[in-house]
Amino acid sequence: MDKKRAEGLSIGIIMDGNGRWAKKRGLPRTAGHKKGAEVFEDITRYANELGVAAITFYAFSTENWSRPKEELDVIMDLFGASLRRMYKFIKENNRVVFLGERAPLRAEHREMMADIEQKTARREGMILNVAVNYGGRQEIVRAARRLADEVKEGRLSADEIDEDTFEARLYTTGQPMPDFILRTSGEERVSNFLLWQGAYSELIFTDTYWPDFTRAHFDAVLEQFFGRDRRFGGL
Ligand code: IPE
Ligand code: IPE
Ligand code: MG
Repeated sequence: MDKKRAEGLSIGIIMDGNGRWAKKRGLPRTAGHKKGAEVFEDITRYANELGVAAITFYAFSTENWSRPKEELDVIMDLFGASLRRMYKFIKENNRVVFLGERAPLRAEHREMMADIEQKTARREGMILNVAVNYGGRQEIVRAARRLADEVKEGRLSADEIDEDTFEARLYTTGQPMPDFILRTSGEERVSNFLLWQGAYSELIFTDTYWPDFTRAHFDAVLEQFFGRDRRFGGL
């Protein structure tokens, strides 16, 4: 990939297919999550090398709690391991932001998340967003509730509510909207990811299972994106 071309892009990734990748190999689903976590780290590094402005990984949805407890435990263990390794795979100028509702997460993870966010908050390089216990609907309801509270407390008037004030209450406040959203594994749906932010994102689907996803696949996805004609309602 010609590095200059990907510079400044904002990208969303729905990392899907971990379970099927494992099943195909006769392994437990959790083996797919483990390999998937490694790919997440490598694609983060690669996005940095390409000069991407912001990248958002969908790691765990508000709907994923319906999975068996054994799988949830392993997913959360792996999330903890990624948090502990985070300074090893991010760049020194990366800002890390976690999207999603934290209360149901482990206290130990919530502490690390707050610490990482706080320590990286002033950095000006690529923004790494990690969506954990994230749902687009939940995020929109949360923003609406925050606006309602501010109106109730007299800090905001209802007439001031517009797209900008709304957007400022989302987890991604101040960030560029995703240029494209990629979903791996052959499924072609959004599954509650970045519902507001993705209003004009190009959607790219690939059949590759996430644990098999490589830098070369990422290059191919970028090529697909550059071939799209974005019109934003114009001509
Ligand atoms: C994505 O892979 C990871 C999470 C949703 C946590 P899946 O676990 O959904 O894998 P498949 O879709 O069952 O293959
Ligand atoms: C979406 O994948 C959530 C994440 C990748 C974290 P799922 O596998 O949970 O989505 P569905 O159930 O196929 O829609
Ligand atoms: Mg899936």
